Amino acid sequence: MDYQKILDEIAIEIAALPNDGEVANYIPELAKANPDKFGMHLTTVRNEHFAVGDAEDKFSIQSISKVFSLAMAFSLMGEKLWKRVGVEPSGNPFNSIVQLEYENGIPRNPFVNAGALVVVDVLLSELQNPEEDLFAFVRSLTGSTDITYNAKVAQSEKETGYLNSAFVNMMKAKGNIVNDTEEILDFYYKQCSIEMNCRELASAFLHFGENGLAYSHAGFSLTKSQVKRLNALMLSCGFYDESGQFAFKVGLAGKSGVGGGIAAVFPEEFAVAVWSPKLNKKGNSVRAFNSLELLTTKTESSIF
Ligand code: DON
Repeated sequence: MDYQKILDEIAIEIAALPNDGEVANYIPELAKANPDKFGMHLTTVRNEHFAVGDAEDKFSIQSISKVFSLAMAFSLMGEKLWKRVGVEPSGNPFNSIVQLEYENGIPRNPFVNAGALVVVDVLLSELQNPEEDLFAFVRSLTGSTDITYNAKVAQSEKETGYLNSAFVNMMKAKGNIVNDTEEILDFYYKQCSIEMNCRELASAFLHFGENGLAYSHAGFSLTKSQVKRLNALMLSCGFYDESGQFAFKVGLAGKSGVGGGIAAVFPEEFAVAVWSPKLNKKGNSVRAFNSLELLTTKTESSIF
């Protein structure tokens, strides 16, 4: 398969379409992203690398980070984790609060904001140095040492994160949060404001697609079955109330973030990351979504 040719074709086809959507503006620092950026990096299980566009530019990975923190919490808690957070698609936006009240403070899944906040609570309870461990884990997954978070983005999120405060407080009231609410929010905003480029993200996600290799990074290990479960969650919940569309049109396990990135896995063959800041109404990058649809169409590499 000539992946480079396919990526080049995708970039040309995407550039010919109008650059629809809006850059996330509910976090003021994110609104500063250049809307015309577009990058894509694909890496295979044979350690081949293919890239096009701005694939080396760092961007805010936002909710894609929820996959990393979930992998750590799942490694620490095993099946007990699912008592605190569910595994069902929510059918609601990532920042919706309605279900949380009538479902008694147990978030539908670990990728809606409330679920990711429970995951952070687990990390704060189980780890002595959770922040250090998160960065060690992400650096180990990517093989890249210069991965940090953007303090301005984290601060901007903190200043505008009223709904996230509401989630964590409601869950505390309902007995599903153990740690101090401000500590949880601070950690969550740091995690969301991690910056990576498409190459680093694709390299990190490749490990979720290598079923033949043991998953063990910086002291966090998952069994084959646990890795499959993470992929199942990405497929069913990775794009919030657009997860069905992503499975329907792209057919890969993946995760989006409001920084405009999407990382996805085709098990036993490749991982791919795409970045373009303009989002659709569901909070997913328009051009990243369309690029991945083109990729799986051209390569006929859907998991179905
Ligand atoms: O909590 C927030 O709103 C952001 N830090 C993360 C949201 C996000 O990326 C949702 N994804 N598409």
